[in-house]
Amino acid sequence: TVRRTVWQDWVSGFYPGTLWFIYKYSGDPEIARLAEEQTEKCSRVQYLRSTHDVGFMINCSYGNGLRLGGIDEYAEVLHNAAHSLVTRYNPLVGCIKSWEDNRSRGWYYPVIIDNMMNLELLFWAAEHGGSPRLKDIAIRHAETTMKHHFRPDGSCYHVAVYNQRTGKFLCGKTHQGYSDNSMWSRGQAWAIYGYTMVYSFTKDKRFLDQAQKAAGIYMKRLKETSDDCIPRWDMDAPDDVKDASAACIIASALLELSEYVSTDQAATYRDFAIKTLNQLSSNRYQSRDKNFSFLLHSTGHHPAGTEIDTSIIYADYYYLEALLKLRRNRQTLWSVHSR
Ligand code: GLY
Repeated sequence: TVRRTVWQDWVSGFYPGTLWFIYKYSGDPEIARLAEEQTEKCSRVQYLRSTHDVGFMINCSYGNGLRLGGIDEYAEVLHNAAHSLVTRYNPLVGCIKSWEDNRSRGWYYPVIIDNMMNLELLFWAAEHGGSPRLKDIAIRHAETTMKHHFRPDGSCYHVAVYNQRTGKFLCGKTHQGYSDNSMWSRGQAWAIYGYTMVYSFTKDKRFLDQAQKAAGIYMKRLKETSDDCIPRWDMDAPDDVKDASAACIIASALLELSEYVSTDQAATYRDFAIKTLNQLSSNRYQSRDKNFSFLLHSTGHHPAGTEIDTSIIYADYYYLEALLKLRRNRQTLWSVHSR
């Protein structure tokens, strides 16, 4: 069965974003037309204040339309979305609130590791004529998250719960992972990608170190728990259901991270990313004629019993992003953030 999405869903930017990547690859004007049509279905997201996901939704759709499709008018949408996103910022906590409080679970001011990805929109806006405050908020969010969201080994919680009156960190929880203290693979992927991206904008070495630490423990745990470079959905889960989406996000992140580190480290990250992409491009993971996505074997929300071992749009999105980085890297030294 195919699950369709609505514009308010956190994944709504990925289909238009995927089309922009295909346009980048093919130069086909018909794909650009389709991408534009799909992008504009996300238009109302720019004013959405009820979720932190506006970053994902707008940056992947309008952001790629601007950078890859050259549609300059999209800049205004990105600026509006950045302003919507920072309405969720509380300076006492030092983070943008991800979700509303969930009293029955005892979750107040929940901030999820995925939220690191939304910061790219704020950095972009600050660099393109927006208020410097947007960048300050992004940095503060990254610092607070660095302080509370990680365990000493570099693995992260999915959800951090804060007291919004005192700003105190209360506890680490999970929503989509196996347990509060387990390593949910996609959460770790957002952490690696997120801190790599924050470093690319700030050049602050603390963030580079955090990205490397998160990548280090991920690669170590992967070796212990998986027969290839595609992780199980949670490193501590007793079953070995895969999550290809995490592998795609990490491959894309590591190709970028490899540009910021010493030659030896760079080779390790690059080789790992290429190996991952090769495996994802094999019969085991390719959808081919099974359905109309690129990849099989992603897991969205295992604890809820939904989207288990299936094709998911954000796996395809980051797979293409990684492949484009690789292709571009071969031509020039290129990073997705300097497109
Ligand atoms: N951001 C939600 C997820 O990764 O499933």
